[in-house]
Amino acid sequence: MGKKVLVVGQGAREHALVWKLSQSPEIKKIYAAPGNPGIAQLAECVAVEATDVSSLLEFAKKADIDLTVVGPEAPLMEGIVDRFKEEGLKIFGPTAAAARLEGSKVFAKNLFKKYGIPTAKFEVFDEIEAARSYTRSYTRQGKPVVIKADGLAAGKGVIVAPGWEEASEAIDSIMKERKFGKAGEKVVIEECLTGEELSFFAITDGRNFLSLAGAQDHKRVFDNDEGPNTGGMGAYSNPPIYTQELHQQIVETIIKPVVAAMSQEGHPYQGVLYAGLMITADGPKVLEFNARFGDPEAQVILPMIKGDLLPILEAAAEGGLADCHVDIDRGSWVCVVLASRGYPGAYEKGKYIEGIDELAEDTLIFHAGTMIENGQLLTNGGRVLSVVVRGDTIEEALETVYREVGKIHFDGMHYRTDIGKKALKRGR
Ligand code: AMP
Ligand code: GLY
Repeated sequence: MGKKVLVVGQGAREHALVWKLSQSPEIKKIYAAPGNPGIAQLAECVAVEATDVSSLLEFAKKADIDLTVVGPEAPLMEGIVDRFKEEGLKIFGPTAAAARLEGSKVFAKNLFKKYGIPTAKFEVFDEIEAARSYTRSYTRQGKPVVIKADGLAAGKGVIVAPGWEEASEAIDSIMKERKFGKAGEKVVIEECLTGEELSFFAITDGRNFLSLAGAQDHKRVFDNDEGPNTGGMGAYSNPPIYTQELHQQIVETIIKPVVAAMSQEGHPYQGVLYAGLMITADGPKVLEFNARFGDPEAQVILPMIKGDLLPILEAAAEGGLADCHVDIDRGSWVCVVLASRGYPGAYEKGKYIEGIDELAEDTLIFHAGTMIENGQLLTNGGRVLSVVVRGDTIEEALETVYREVGKIHFDGMHYRTDIGKKALKRGR
């Protein structure tokens, strides 16, 4: 008998999840809440917000959902997994206590310290003068320093301060002005690491894990990493820095110990482990963990998984990953995000999107901020579409992706023209 799956979320990441799950021979029907017009081509969209946990629970019971898959972090922090499990429903993702690995930087850093997991040297403060004094111990030596609000702050709670002036401003805005509210009750102050950043993804059932792949994101809105931070303007998988040796190091010194530590602490972690790493001269160190797939990283990681994703997610939710195996494509996948002019600030909506029909058959297009009005596809958000292609090499993938991007048009369409260029410069 075919299974019914509910995917929670509405971005390009969730479109990629729905697309991957739609290939499963075991699935009869996919629902998405709330979904988007791209997702609607593969699933039935249900008008429930991703954070409306009670309504999601009600729907899952009524529709007899076999597995719920959570895309974004907000419902995880609100305890969607706890609520579903209490009612005996199968759901893929960490409990609220386990999701603190993303939701509380203080929790995460203390865990890393206790279990010897490599990370930047740090101290935690809830008192502003002590925070200032520790910060000065870096800036007096001319060293940059990183100030982090404890809780979630819409990606704005981390400030890499080159000197005292910026650091002091950051401390004031988090601790005094309470720019991020309760998220700023505590701060982590840490040494600034140098190296190349890498995102690494694994799926775990609380004891066993499957490594997926490494990827690199492009956070700034403009080419050459200029302009403000965004949710992510593009990504590519298997960057040159991600060698077999580095993979082993990440698994042995970071993923294995984190899975064991969470279990030891009484919060076994089930779901996606997204490690944000700095590859330093002393090896990989953790910048942060996220409790979900990255967006846009999911758009390049999910297509690399050969075979059926459903049994892996089910096994992770049930504690049976030891019997699972995953085959990962060795090619290079690239994602270019098409955004509205002005994003991440104010932008206009409702622009006609043209050219999607002209894309090559094997080009993937994942929707984020789109809507349909009178049968026309229109823009409806900051990040609008993700264009994703595969190449045997990164060069090939980049050439193809920009050729495909060139076929799409909407008024004010903005994208970075240098996705993956760092990899080309570095070579293999
Ligand atoms: P996080 O949310 O902790 O990953 O921080 C967001 C971004 O801030 C990271 O992707 C890094 O670019 C930067 N960052 C965070 N912590 C550090 C650190 N200790 N040293 C250097 N850069 C950092
Ligand atoms: N791409 C960054 C994130 O999903 O957090």
